[in-house]
Amino acid sequence: MSERDRQLEYMEKAKGYVAKFAEELGRRPTCCVTTFGCQMNARDSEKLVGILKTIGYEIIEEENADFVIYNTCTVRDNANQKVYGRLGVLNGYKKKNPRMKIALCGCMMQEPTVIEKIRTSYGFVDLIFGTHNIFKFAELLVAVFEDQGMVIDIWKDTDQIVEDLPVERKYPFKSGINIMFGCNNFCSYCIVPYVRGRERSRDPRDIIREIEGLVADGVVEIMLLGQNVNSYGKNLDEPITFATLLQEVEKIEGLKRIRFMTSHPKDLSDELIDVMKHSTKICRHLHLPLQSGSTKILTAMNRRYTKEQYMELVQKIRREIPDIAITTDIIVGFPGETMEDVEETLDVIRKVKYDNAFTFIYSKRTGTPAAVMENQVSEEDVKRGFDKVLKLVQETAKEQVSRYQGQIVEVLVEEVDESDSSMVTGRMSNNTLVHFPGGRELVGQLFKVSLDECHGFYYIGHKV
Ligand code: 5AD
Ligand code: SF4
Repeated sequence: MSERDRQLEYMEKAKGYVAKFAEELGRRPTCCVTTFGCQMNARDSEKLVGILKTIGYEIIEEENADFVIYNTCTVRDNANQKVYGRLGVLNGYKKKNPRMKIALCGCMMQEPTVIEKIRTSYGFVDLIFGTHNIFKFAELLVAVFEDQGMVIDIWKDTDQIVEDLPVERKYPFKSGINIMFGCNNFCSYCIVPYVRGRERSRDPRDIIREIEGLVADGVVEIMLLGQNVNSYGKNLDEPITFATLLQEVEKIEGLKRIRFMTSHPKDLSDELIDVMKHSTKICRHLHLPLQSGSTKILTAMNRRYTKEQYMELVQKIRREIPDIAITTDIIVGFPGETMEDVEETLDVIRKVKYDNAFTFIYSKRTGTPAAVMENQVSEEDVKRGFDKVLKLVQETAKEQVSRYQGQIVEVLVEEVDESDSSMVTGRMSNNTLVHFPGGRELVGQLFKVSLDECHGFYYIGHKV
């Protein structure tokens, strides 16, 4: 029997338990899936929701539910602290509703110290699993329904990719889609390779089939997801490049927009730039993490490019695709970083002029090479550098975003504004947000919109 069929059997079994629970409660049991972290986790959560819905739960947003699952992130320590803090609140809910079940999964659970801490100090948790066995969720749920104790199932790694399990998309018109899992880069600050395992690419035929299915189901925009999409396909039995995959995806009829995340500068090929340049569907947006502008720090980070190589790459991209928006990630306070190094980062920001940049304070992750580097930067110096970087990023982004003022662009409407129901929010191809008058019926459709007023990071416009 295939793994997929096994899991479908477990879903049937779980359905029985949930139905019985519903009978006892006199209503459908509720569940809440809370997601921390990146787009990968968001996609994983859609898989969790797909299974929970299939077996009979009603999905709600409140955490005071019959079943709560946290899909965690551990890329920086503040994400971990948030989980511990909120677990205390969940414990309060569980005291009032003793039949409540609490589950934890995601990157944080791949750390042995975390498991130990939960086992000893958070005994009210019912289920823990990691990033490699999420396809087993139905089976693990059955174990929870049949057992009384804490169920823990963590795998160190896997080469298994289980296709075609239920997925419940957050948005009907757009979807993330995994093209690869894991990362082999081992940037010295990063915990991802340890918690997400080695790089594995999905078969391109499975990817295309999944996207075709999504498009038939109303999806117009997809985001191809991987920690390092530029090395997609290198280790397949029949190797293929990411650029070739994009060309195949482009051919899918009915699909309107293609995005992807994340690109490593060291692997971004001329072939990819060329494919993007000639594409009508690939969005005019490239997320190109810089991390630092100092070659000395980049070397210590094991990024495998220099400041100059990064700048050359950006220039090439801008030359070939002038209307592209480039966004980035920057870390301030990596061990050994001096004010001169921060100046190098500021220099890159000034020259590249990012449309948006996510700035992070370096967070020491146990088990990574950087954690044991000696020259950790003082909190005070980090703060000084961070404020400088943030200020410049905001100034340059404002300038970049404002260059579209007065233009008419295509916008995909994503939702009705929370604060004003006479307005909708959508995204330009380059990922900039646009608000304009309209109602719920516009959601999921593309419109030509005039960009009337630039408000820093977003536009107010009107449909033309
Ligand atoms: N400390 C701070 N930021 C980090 N990132 C990854 N690891 C760390 C860390 N230890 C940032 C990088 C990456 C983004 C997803 O998170 O900038 O691109
Ligand atoms: Fe982490 Fe580097 Fe891999 Fe990105 S490329 S996930 S920063 S190790």
